[in-house]
Amino acid sequence: MTVEDKNTWEQLWLSFDKGETPASLSIVPDFLQVLTINDQVLDVGCGSGRFTRKLSTLVKSVIGMDINMKEIIYRASDDKDHTSIHYCVSDGTALPFQSHFFTTTILLGVLGGVHPTFRSQLLKESFRCLQTGGKIYISEFLQIENQEWKNIYDREFNKTSEWGSITAKAINGKKFHTHHFSKKELDKLLVHSGFTNIDFKTYRVVSQTAEGKEYDAIGFWATK
Ligand SMILES: C[S@@+](CC[C@H](N)C(=O)[O-])C[C@H]1O[C@@H](n2cnc3c(N)ncnc32)[C@H](O)[C@@H]1O
Repeated sequence: MTVEDKNTWEQLWLSFDKGETPASLSIVPDFLQVLTINDQVLDVGCGSGRFTRKLSTLVKSVIGMDINMKEIIYRASDDKDHTSIHYCVSDGTALPFQSHFFTTTILLGVLGGVHPTFRSQLLKESFRCLQTGGKIYISEFLQIENQEWKNIYDREFNKTSEWGSITAKAINGKKFHTHHFSKKELDKLLVHSGFTNIDFKTYRVVSQTAEGKEYDAIGFWATK
């Protein structure tokens, strides 16, 4: 059995060219209503910047960051006239920002795409960069409880060494790893990273993968 490391997970994301990064998850309306025009938002793992620009119309400023330079360079040039949007290439597990800087952090489909050993570090970095009372929003796919998916999780365990982690195929055929979380798992990660006032909402979403099926997803929000 070959156990994959952080670099292997990241290399799969880095194979996506500008505008190609698969992304399906959303910000639930309950959380959008919590945002204010004074918010300074960090969109961690922004990919093609799908939500970065949308968020910029609701808040004071947004920084979109991702490990994938191809997405970031393209986005930065496309949005160069929007003074409230900035982009940077960085690893969410070692954020290049001062502590207590942002009022809000968004992680859409990012936590599950990070190697299991580094998810807690990613959340702790988000915690560090948030102001006291700041908000975090996370959205992920939920684990599926039927025999077909039990077989998939069993098979994939040999590669990822984590129950619920899979190799998914984007519409263009490129592969990436992601994790299907249980609600309990996400709750525990948030608490462990220091977050409180945890709330959530489940919703249905069509996966932007080769399969294109509809799945259960969850949106979690909490405060520092
Ligand atoms: C499923 S995509 C979601 C993109 C975007 N959040 C959206 O919903 O449109 C996951 C993104 O996380 C990025 N990513 C993976 N590991 C990361 C890390 N350690 N730090 C920052 N971004 C990362 C990937 O490059 C990819 O763009």
